[in-house]
Amino acid sequence: MSYELITVRVEAGKVGIITLNRPKQLNALNDQLMSELGTALQAFDADSAIACTILTGSEKAFAAGADIGAMASYSFADAYKGDFITRNWEQIRSVRKPVIAAVSGFALGGGCELAMMCDFIIAADNAKFGQPEIKLGIIPGAGGTQRLPRAVGKAKAMDMALTGRMMDAVEAERAGLVSRVVPLDKLMDEALGAALMISEFSQIAVMAAKESVNRAFEGSLSDGVMFERRLFHALFATADQKEGMDAFVNKRKANFSHQ
Ligand code: HXC
Repeated sequence: MSYELITVRVEAGKVGIITLNRPKQLNALNDQLMSELGTALQAFDADSAIACTILTGSEKAFAAGADIGAMASYSFADAYKGDFITRNWEQIRSVRKPVIAAVSGFALGGGCELAMMCDFIIAADNAKFGQPEIKLGIIPGAGGTQRLPRAVGKAKAMDMALTGRMMDAVEAERAGLVSRVVPLDKLMDEALGAALMISEFSQIAVMAAKESVNRAFEGSLSDGVMFERRLFHALFATADQKEGMDAFVNKRKANFSHQ
């Protein structure tokens, strides 16, 4: 299988490594990239030689969010009828073997949500996490309003969702969003070390542990995500979404009319 917007390789014959590869756009997540990612994750999950997958980006950006240029002109009908996000973001949740996010640089909006969909996050010391959707006249749409409070508690999640501020790696570790912080040049070694350790264990026990921890974590997450999804779709009916995204695309300050 050949991919354009991700690269895929195998380390030590048993760890799959997927690298998001739209560097000029800071790995902004468009439809094609998410479809390729879903396919690659499913392929590693189905490969009996692979014990664990690492998902990573570039030094500057894990991913700076969903592709704003692609979304800017969406209507509510486009988002809702096209099943925006659900159609190609949810595959990662059906992967049964562990997926580790190795995050350096920006993990913003959908990028932060994608990292949170992984089983745990190892961060480089230059990592920055945030849900800046509010600045665009929308809200997180890939589980951010549900997974972030479960990871860091309501206070910080609310702070981040309402102000759009970023959290650095130290704060993210303190808050419980990431499991480890390492120097940037050690990020892949650390993630690979964790993946190789996992690969030594019983694959059945590993899958059971993952399933069980997710059970504790999820609760009524699906209802929450669906609720969020419909609100997210609805925001494409607002003038403020058009204004927020047009302002970003045209590199100007947004002037919201609150309509
Ligand atoms: C499309 C993006 C992008 C994005 C960056 N780029 N983020 N394009 N969608 N999310 C593009 C820029 O337009 C620019 O293209 C190039 O990447 C480099 O970005 P700069 O802004 O020049 O870099 P810098 O000054 O270093 O600032 C980095 C940044 C900033 C702080 C990360 O790019 C930024 O604020 N990006 C948007 C972050 C964001 O709002 N994310 C949430 C998106 S909404 P050109 O062509 O000018 O070089 C979202 C909804 C999720 O994710 C819903 C569920 C999926």
